[in-house]
Amino acid sequence: MVSIKRLISLFSVSWEQTLICLGSLVITLFILLVIRQLVKQRRPRGFPPGPTPLPIIGNILSLKCLAGEWINDEYCYFIIQIFSLDLGGVSTVILNGYDAIKECLYHQSEVFADRPSLPLFQKMTKMGGIVHPNMKVLTLFIPPHILLNLYISEECLFFLDAIDQHQGKPFNPKHLVTNAVSNITNLIIFGQRFTYDDSDFQHMIEIFSENVELAASGWAFLYNAFPWMEYVPFGKHQKLFRNANEVYDFLLQIIKRFSQDRVPQSPQHYIDAYLDEMEQSATDKATSFSQDNLIFSVGELIIAGTETTTNCLRWAMLYITLYPRIQEKVQMEIDCILNGRPSALEDKQGMPYVEAVLHEVLRLCNVVPLGIFRATSQDAVVRGYTIPKGTMVITNLYSVHFDEKYWSNPSIFWPERFLGCNGKFVRHEAFLPFSIGKRHCLGEQLARLEMFLFFTTLLQRFHLQFPEGFIPSLSPKLGMTLQPRPYSICAIRRQQ
Ligand code: HEM
Repeated sequence: MVSIKRLISLFSVSWEQTLICLGSLVITLFILLVIRQLVKQRRPRGFPPGPTPLPIIGNILSLKCLAGEWINDEYCYFIIQIFSLDLGGVSTVILNGYDAIKECLYHQSEVFADRPSLPLFQKMTKMGGIVHPNMKVLTLFIPPHILLNLYISEECLFFLDAIDQHQGKPFNPKHLVTNAVSNITNLIIFGQRFTYDDSDFQHMIEIFSENVELAASGWAFLYNAFPWMEYVPFGKHQKLFRNANEVYDFLLQIIKRFSQDRVPQSPQHYIDAYLDEMEQSATDKATSFSQDNLIFSVGELIIAGTETTTNCLRWAMLYITLYPRIQEKVQMEIDCILNGRPSALEDKQGMPYVEAVLHEVLRLCNVVPLGIFRATSQDAVVRGYTIPKGTMVITNLYSVHFDEKYWSNPSIFWPERFLGCNGKFVRHEAFLPFSIGKRHCLGEQLARLEMFLFFTTLLQRFHLQFPEGFIPSLSPKLGMTLQPRPYSICAIRRQQ
């Protein structure tokens, strides 16, 4: 084989000249990449306006402003109803406030129904899970309400007993709430619950939930802008990939375990139903039912069903403990309507104050502040602006719940805003924690039932208070979801 040295001598070029050539090549490539990036960063013609992007990274650093943290001159954009951001070369439209979101997601439901084909999603789920567009979404195998009611009521007992073990001493409720809530999704997916000390399952939920935080980090957006960062061995995106691999390995194991005794065409849970569909469409070359997509969709269902409802309940416990007068009114209603018996779905209508408190938690705490990113399925025109097909769209649900056109004093926790003068529950138009339109939350009914049953059962048995001298923080931890910072409470058994 001819060595490089010999090759160089053949062309009578010195080492120095070779190095200069290579250096120039690298610099030229770098300049070309920068030019390509700057061209990508140009707003398409007719696109909504937005703050000036920084070279290369665009407006990635401004994203956190959407959830209320404004940065001086960007403020003017963050209060207008439609504007654009450059997320490292990914042109993105932001919809702010109720009117703009309704106009697009509801009145142009089909047009705003896609999910963006971002490198991060492609790498993690090959765009094949349940929340992505090119999957023929399997209708959720959610059991009828009567069965769900039973599942949740049974889990409530495990939950209360676990709390009782703390005997009124301070504890952080995060772990117990996560376990209890995830068990409802587990019953739907696997037909079984996991015990609160199952360390493998705990670990899986923990790293999965860490990924929800990491997916909203600057590193994740940088990866979307520059997918070659996959080869950069450090950074939060690498942690995200490692976590995802670990989660998928674990899910594969438990899917195998729970499908062992399966009887075809007689589904007992989501896995059975999916495998039935997979077998039926085995000869269809275009089918999206596959072993991989089963794992991705199970993962997405677990995290969509756990992270959101868990955080809502944790916020509800935090606010109810912070406002003892509201807690007292909730307990009065519970005692009066239930009279010591367990709560059930049918009781929701008769408990307007509990409903008002839970709605106010969903409004103020904005558990999914920016929804799940959408994309346009065809060219669209909104308020005179042109939005090309495939553009990423962020729906700022946070802004809907702080929209002063619809809410007075929106930053105040005030459940009474959901009550009429006769004390009856009143719906509000600009209330979109589950979003609207074609891709709105699939688990809304389930989440509402879980919140109601867990919340009423908890406050029926316990009085919640903070440990002496503890001052909780109300500022959220930022991520794809907004969760409360860790706090401790004492759950004291009530005398009834
Ligand atoms: C309080 C709890 C919950 C909140 C606040 C919530 C909120 C949301 C939001 C804002 C979206 C994005 C919709 C959009 O793109 O416009 C979403 C999507 C979704 N949610 Fe929920 N969610 C909750 C609970 C659940 C539960 C319990 C499940 C099921 C087990 C679930 C399953 C899903 C799924 C599968 C999607 C994707 C739908 C699609 O792409 O077609 N969610 N959720």
